[in-house]
Amino acid sequence: MFQLTLCILKPDVVRSPRLFNEIIQLILQRQFIFVKSKRLQLSRERAGEFYQEHQQNFFYSRLVHYMSCGPISCHILGRENAIQEWRSILGPTKVFKTIFEAQDTIRGQHGVTDTRNCGHGSDSIATAQREIGFFFPEFDMKSISKYE
Ligand code: CMP
Repeated sequence: MFQLTLCILKPDVVRSPRLFNEIIQLILQRQFIFVKSKRLQLSRERAGEFYQEHQQNFFYSRLVHYMSCGPISCHILGRENAIQEWRSILGPTKVFKTIFEAQDTIRGQHGVTDTRNCGHGSDSIATAQREIGFFFPEFDMKSISKYE
């Protein structure tokens, strides 16, 4: 099924033009289309809102601090099975897991810690809709058929 997903490239990636370009090339090689892109810096409040489901987790303030420490690059990506495909290229959240199971993923090669893990990908259709709406409120999700 053709899907849209939200991809965030986190501050460490945006700070490194070489790594940023490498990841963009990889996304294109994997047949994604870039439907919309935006570079911005989140305030602590907006970062907290985006990750509100993690509010009770021990890493929440670390995560909010990191995600608001510099510019991020947000993309609506489209392709068949985009949600799962982007997450599989990205790799597991936990760095120790990438060492044993996913060295050839973006996080496996460039992840620094469980927080500084290069990127974010939506985990379901409902989440993708909410997250795309968060960063691209002007985007009409019903226009998906234009990109198929
Ligand atoms: P992301 O895909 O953006 O979604 C939630 C984020 O929380 C995740 O990537 C990590 O950056 C962060 N995260 C998840 N688990 C941990 C953890 N155990 N320690 C620190 N940060 C975490």
